[in-house]
Amino acid sequence: MKIVNGFDLMKFAASHHYMLPAFNTTNLEMTYAIIKGLNNAGLPGYVQISSNNLRLSDPEVIAYLTKAALKNSDVPVGLHLDHGKSYEDVKACVDAGFTSIMIDASHLPFEENIKEVQRAVEYCHFYGVPVEAELGSLQGKEEDIVNEADCKTDPDMVADFVEQTGCDLLAVAVGNVHGLDLTPKVDLPLLKTISEISPVPLVMHGGSGIPFETIRAAKEYNLLKVNYGSDLRKAFVSTFGKAYDANNNETNVIELSLNAVENVSKKAEELVKIINA
Ligand code: G3H
Ligand code: ZN
Repeated sequence: MKIVNGFDLMKFAASHHYMLPAFNTTNLEMTYAIIKGLNNAGLPGYVQISSNNLRLSDPEVIAYLTKAALKNSDVPVGLHLDHGKSYEDVKACVDAGFTSIMIDASHLPFEENIKEVQRAVEYCHFYGVPVEAELGSLQGKEEDIVNEADCKTDPDMVADFVEQTGCDLLAVAVGNVHGLDLTPKVDLPLLKTISEISPVPLVMHGGSGIPFETIRAAKEYNLLKVNYGSDLRKAFVSTFGKAYDANNNETNVIELSLNAVENVSKKAEELVKIINA
């Protein structure tokens, strides 16, 4: 299958009442593993890569790997830029064939956040690519970016933000956290309030560690996309860590990489099935 356009993927998920996981990739092995996991589950989702990770993996390379991995797959998969840091990164990813984009200017004051999103929307919509934006900010660690401030999404700002920016998905901060060090405390009543105001579907970042019943309950509140990063990275890293602990002369990188693909794909399969159970 080809990489699916982001708008088509959103429509497909909405019409089948699917929750879309967005799994963060880092490299070749994780990209193949995510698509294998989705395919084994027979469920749709996203491969996504954060702007920060683009220091390691060029967008063209990730797009190529995703296309290659999808050759033997028959579930709809979109390719998403996660936490897009700049207009330049957004442009580079759209140009490389990404089918969905996040521009994250949530650290900026409200009006500046709006301006950054508007600029990305103008470019992405010209190419038929949907845009996710964030209002409020999450505590925790996303790869090597640490945020100590906990700033929940203010429902009073939502309508204005979505209308002015023209974004297609809204990432919310409702007690969800990035990484595995903090415990998420998702405020479902706040999510419900936001869902009643937001004209676009909602996105939950920091999926790792959020109880599955919370995610399934959030489906009632127009939650369409859930991001999972740390859970998959842990499955990847622990494969190598355990082998090295068992034998510090272990150097069979091919075998370990194949094992890592297996372990990450199992985790992705488990997650996509549970949130859609
Ligand atoms: O954008 C990526 C995520 O929000 C991943 O968060 O590592 O806590 O699952 P997580
Ligand atoms: Zn995130």
